Amino acid sequence: MRRRGGERGADGETADGAAEVTGAKEIVNVALSGAGDAVVILDQSLLPNETRYLTLRGAGELYEAIASLRVRGAPAIGIFAAYALYVLAAGSAAERYDEFYAELLRNKAYLDSSRPTAVNLRRMLDRMERLARSMRRESVPRIVEAMRREAIAIHNEDIAMCRAISEYGLTLVRPGDGVLTHCNAGPLATSRYGTGLGPILLAKERGIELRVYCDETRPLLQGARLTAYELYKAGVDTTLICDNMASIVMREGRINACFVGCDRVAANGDAANKIGTSGVAILAAHYGIPFYVFCPSSTIDPDCASGGDIEIELRAPDEIKEKFFKAPSALPEVKCYNPAFDVTDGSLITAVVTERGICRAPYAESFAKAGLI
Ligand code: MRU
Repeated sequence: MRRRGGERGADGETADGAAEVTGAKEIVNVALSGAGDAVVILDQSLLPNETRYLTLRGAGELYEAIASLRVRGAPAIGIFAAYALYVLAAGSAAERYDEFYAELLRNKAYLDSSRPTAVNLRRMLDRMERLARSMRRESVPRIVEAMRREAIAIHNEDIAMCRAISEYGLTLVRPGDGVLTHCNAGPLATSRYGTGLGPILLAKERGIELRVYCDETRPLLQGARLTAYELYKAGVDTTLICDNMASIVMREGRINACFVGCDRVAANGDAANKIGTSGVAILAAHYGIPFYVFCPSSTIDPDCASGGDIEIELRAPDEIKEKFFKAPSALPEVKCYNPAFDVTDGSLITAVVTERGICRAPYAESFAKAGLI
């Protein structure tokens, strides 16, 4: 039965689609439910202590899953949004194209407003809308079916892109190297190998041992909760450090390269990633350590000339003061500033690695040559 688009469903709990995803060997973070009427996600906000799948149908809970970082990481958000727009379209009661399309635009704008920095969200929503618009002379059920196939294609393309990125990234390290990571750019943030963690996981698969130092990544601890979890489970030599220890491990000669993902890259090579990334890049430059940014081509935004054009998400103070402590770590009256991302100047980035290859400065030129802008 088709439901009305934009309807807010109850809090999603493990249901029909979960069996499909939990049966898989690798970590599956986002999937379409078996019946195709819901998006099933692994709730990343509970990891590593609890593995819980959520089955999401209503616009409200789909929005909340992105805003609360239950699903997170730029590529994963894009894949999730494509499935979400499809699920809402499939639940629409509209029979005429105009009505259907107006509802789709409302759902698209609503999902797009969940987080501002990762460009993949908007890109994948645009792609789904373009498809629907191109089929305006077709029946609504045919458009909905095409949207389902498009969302699956977006997901499959990401798997292939992560694999290609990982292959290129593997050429940047040697057996025994120490790699520093910040935030999480592994399978949980993407699909299969990941971007920043892709070369590390591929190396492991090929019997090449690397030593990885994971920044814990305050305030939401994606490095501790997700990156260290993924790497440990894969059998990679993994050491967790606090963010303020990056300098000492570099100084002690433990680090040969820094690998990070990113949420949006401007046409000049400036890259927005999790808060603290730019500090790691500045340290790496100081110690003469290469700093690599990994992302699919869809993360490069030709509409942003430089990092100054990238909107930085501001999040709630309680993430800093209360989230991971038994008792609040600061007085409630103390003001907080909680930007979720920062921009690393392109001049500090040794290379940007996409599925199309390895681009080096000057980025406007190398991106254009690779057909990225
Ligand atoms: O706030 P998050 O957890 O969504 O931030 C994610 C990051 O900053 C990742 O490093 C980035 O999205 C790259 S994911 C391959």
